[in-house]
Amino acid sequence: MGFLSDLKILYHMVLKPIRGKDHAARLESFYAGQAEAYDDFRRRFLHGRQEMVSWIDPPPRAVWVDMGGGTGANLEFIAERITDLSKVYVVDLSPSLLKVCRRRAEQRGWNNVEAVEADATCFQPPEEQVDVVTFSYSLTMIPDWFAAIDNAKRLLRPGGVIGVVDFYISRKYPPDGLKRHGWWTRAFWPFWFGIDNVFLSPDHVPYLHRHFTPVRFDERRGKVPYLPFARSPYYIFVGRKSPGGPPG
Ligand SMILES: C[S@@+](CC[C@H](N)C(=O)[O-])C[C@H]1O[C@@H](n2cnc3c(N)ncnc32)[C@H](O)[C@@H]1O
Repeated sequence: MGFLSDLKILYHMVLKPIRGKDHAARLESFYAGQAEAYDDFRRRFLHGRQEMVSWIDPPPRAVWVDMGGGTGANLEFIAERITDLSKVYVVDLSPSLLKVCRRRAEQRGWNNVEAVEADATCFQPPEEQVDVVTFSYSLTMIPDWFAAIDNAKRLLRPGGVIGVVDFYISRKYPPDGLKRHGWWTRAFWPFWFGIDNVFLSPDHVPYLHRHFTPVRFDERRGKVPYLPFARSPYYIFVGRKSPGGPPG
């Protein structure tokens, strides 16, 4: 715990080379050595997750899919509402992080939680329709992030809700009403996060607005551990799939 645990995380984030022949192998190479210490460090780094989850009000007996859910940290934010849900799928490609998730669900007695090793771009639960899909800081780690959003839209029932929180940069010329980041922000943060295969995009936010009706949206900045003066930009988006029309 504490500083030693942070040192281990920083070693994996800054120094240890990421290896692997495909995306899943590279993720596991990055996360295997830091899975146990993951939650403590990310609590101070991955801002807005609790808020994103609190903005979602699932109907009783809902099916909730958390894409790229890792250790299942978001389950702690759903907390007492979990027993009202019919099923929660935590979908991830890293077996080490999913192991932490399974242990968490077992210890908390959350029998309706299933940790699934699968790709967010094509995961399909056995249920016909899903009420909620969330992505917290996972879209930036999914190379085909647009395919992951398309898959979420396909899975959601009409009127179903998507919640996303993630790092991003603005477009150089964003549409009216959206924040504009200066050149330093647009140059520095993609470079810095890119070292860990986290790819900040100016296109997540416009793509989400194009495919879902926004319910709530906010653009912010958050502290970064050990970078005292830095504030990395992140957004929270909660939107609804159109209640009418064909699925997809
Ligand atoms: C920064 S972590 C965030 C984890 C968790 N959502 C949280 O808030 O703590 C990003 C996660 O996305 C997962 N991931 C990346 N690409 C994925 C994919 N194609 N399918 C499923 N999970 C993926 C990683 O393994 C990792 O657990």
